[in-house]
Amino acid sequence: MTVLIKNAIIVNADKMNDQPQDILLEKGSIVQIAPSIKNDKATVIDAQGKLVMPGLIDIHVHLREPGREDKETIETGAKAAVHGGFTTIMCMPNTNPVIDNAMIVDSIFKEAKRVGLVNVIPIGAITKGQKDEELVDIFELQKAGCLAISDDGKSVVNSQLMRLAMDYAKMANILVIEHCEEPLLSAGGVMNEGKMSTQLGIKGQSGLAETVIVARDIELAKYLDTKVHMAHMSLRRSVELIRQAKKEGIQITAEACPHHFTLTDEDVSSFNTSTKVNPPLRTKDDVAAIKEGIKDGTIDCIVTDHAPHTQEDKEVDFEHAPFGMIGLETSVGLTITELVEPKVISWAQMVEKMSTAPAKIVGLEKKGVIQEGMDADITIIDPQKEWEVRREDFVSKSKNSPFIGRTLKGQVTTTICGGKVVYQA
Ligand code: DOR
Ligand code: ZN
Repeated sequence: MTVLIKNAIIVNADKMNDQPQDILLEKGSIVQIAPSIKNDKATVIDAQGKLVMPGLIDIHVHLREPGREDKETIETGAKAAVHGGFTTIMCMPNTNPVIDNAMIVDSIFKEAKRVGLVNVIPIGAITKGQKDEELVDIFELQKAGCLAISDDGKSVVNSQLMRLAMDYAKMANILVIEHCEEPLLSAGGVMNEGKMSTQLGIKGQSGLAETVIVARDIELAKYLDTKVHMAHMSLRRSVELIRQAKKEGIQITAEACPHHFTLTDEDVSSFNTSTKVNPPLRTKDDVAAIKEGIKDGTIDCIVTDHAPHTQEDKEVDFEHAPFGMIGLETSVGLTITELVEPKVISWAQMVEKMSTAPAKIVGLEKKGVIQEGMDADITIIDPQKEWEVRREDFVSKSKNSPFIGRTLKGQVTTTICGGKVVYQA
């Protein structure tokens, strides 16, 4: 397939072009960028009035295959991803069985290839069965194609195990992603511990559960002189710890989710179980700090933590509902509405947070930039388009979004992955 994008205002992380360009895509690569390209056999996409970005990359997604295909499958998750403008997604290993060996990794790659819409890269577990007892074979997972390992859903609490994991990961050149939650400190808590949890009479979990693990992992990364990536940061104190660690030259990177810069614990007062997420929605002050962290580079990237759950599972009282909300189809709209429109970040920074930085963090060398020779993964956005989030428009198998009914500005119009148009509005 040959695709020619005409009149493209290209946004890269280092520069937003002011002059429109044409972009020619052939055999899965960006082959030419020039003011005017002619090609008779190409499918033409006119990007007049739109912004053309490197394909968006989400390094934190939950597809529920294998095990809970009633919530999401690789296929439905991939469809949701391209609908949301993503060309690469990395899926967490808290499936059943857990992604902790090469055989399961292979099966996910195989199914993703059959589906063919988007690059799906499985994240391996850190401990076998995510039981925090015994390390996986990190080299085996790396050879199978994993770029990262994580016990996401929970922390590696055993510090000696985490130390070994980080040491082996350094040798295998694979990224360790930590879900920061000390389980004794968070035990039983289903929302943020504070004034709101007291008022609502819901058991809260202290922010300490997050920050003690952030602090521990910073110490481990410093001691071992290696990298660690912090999943879904939600607190002012976490941002402060990471900012300080970066100043000291410690190799730490961090991500935040749209819901953590959009919603607060006050939104839990609706008792809408879609607002139950882990880490929980925090205070206004924490939201402000996450935005500052995104703006100043303390938070490197934006991820969704797309966590599909069936209506049946979520339609119980708040205390018993599972944690998590879907995010793939609202991430672009929320980021534009909450960060770009109010000028917290620029368009170029949005591209950095949603494509260039994640590519770099996990080591995807041919992605994250629109440039000749790079992979033909491209997302086209209409920056002016306002749209309402509607339950019936989600293509994800699950509909657990607290954003239903909101009006967002900025919508994905075209997603191109590997030179193929995989979504068009
Ligand atoms: O809200 C969450 N849902 N947080 C997690 O860490 C796990 C995720 C899930 O798998 O549902
Ligand atoms: Zn997660």
